[in-house]
Amino acid sequence: SKLLISAGPTREALDPVRFLTNRSSGKMGFALAEEALARGAEVTLVSGPVALSTPRGARRIDVESAEQMAAAIKSTLPGMDALIMAAAVADFRPQNIASHKLKKGDRNAANLELKRCPDILAEVVPEARPRVVVGFAMETSELLSGASAKLEAKNLDLIVANDLSQAGAGFAVDTNAVTILDRDGGADELPLMSKRAVAGRVLDRVVALLTALLLLLLPACGGEDNDDNGPTWPPSVAGPLQAGVAGGTLDLPVGVPLGGYTDRDRALGN
Ligand code: CTP
Repeated sequence: SKLLISAGPTREALDPVRFLTNRSSGKMGFALAEEALARGAEVTLVSGPVALSTPRGARRIDVESAEQMAAAIKSTLPGMDALIMAAAVADFRPQNIASHKLKKGDRNAANLELKRCPDILAEVVPEARPRVVVGFAMETSELLSGASAKLEAKNLDLIVANDLSQAGAGFAVDTNAVTILDRDGGADELPLMSKRAVAGRVLDRVVALLTALLLLLLPACGGEDNDDNGPTWPPSVAGPLQAGVAGGTLDLPVGVPLGGYTDRDRALGN
């Protein structure tokens, strides 16, 4: 399968030497890339500025600003099976980028005017939505309600709710404590574990969703259900798909034409 993963912070320039950014280290997104590669996926990693080496086998695209990240995602999204947005994208950037280093004495130097950055999940992804879209929610309070509001507002399949106020979770550390929310109201609260292990749990869910969609699209195959009444649920399953489920791999057949959201909804029984 083809997987697009975003990671790290963005930097929003103020002048040639200063920028606004956040504490994201990129570790969660890179762990997702490593785990997906280990499972046989083809991974494109769009990364903000981080101090991490490229996972072996990943195609990496480095960006700085939210606008650059939006452009990189827009151009790489077509043909992807799933997108996981683990990047901590800035919501605001300076209204003006000074061409010279701002001086203490500059008029308005102490007043920073900001404008909105593009919301990549809400504004860019719908143009070429892959079958499965996963977001992260960074919260310091009201974790689950905040995360589920984002799941709805950004039309996500899953959201990984990340409680930044919890010890050992969030930015810069190698562990994380998250709850994975889905569209059916399910909330899978995971204990504190390594980011690589969290990545594995998230990818298990992505594989399950992709597999459910493929099962829906398969005509009844190889079984007794060979009348013309269309597929039954659960349908008969061909070998490669069963291997995908049992092995937890991302090595699913690709290129199946699919209408997107409506089919996904049907697959999930909504
Ligand atoms: N995100 C995005 N584009 C942005 C900001 C965020 O695509 N400009 C994505 C993040 O990558 C993440 C999800 O949206 O997967 C939620 O990000 P988060 O920072 O938690 O929430 P926001 O949407 O920025 O909302 P708020 O600032 O109100 O918490």
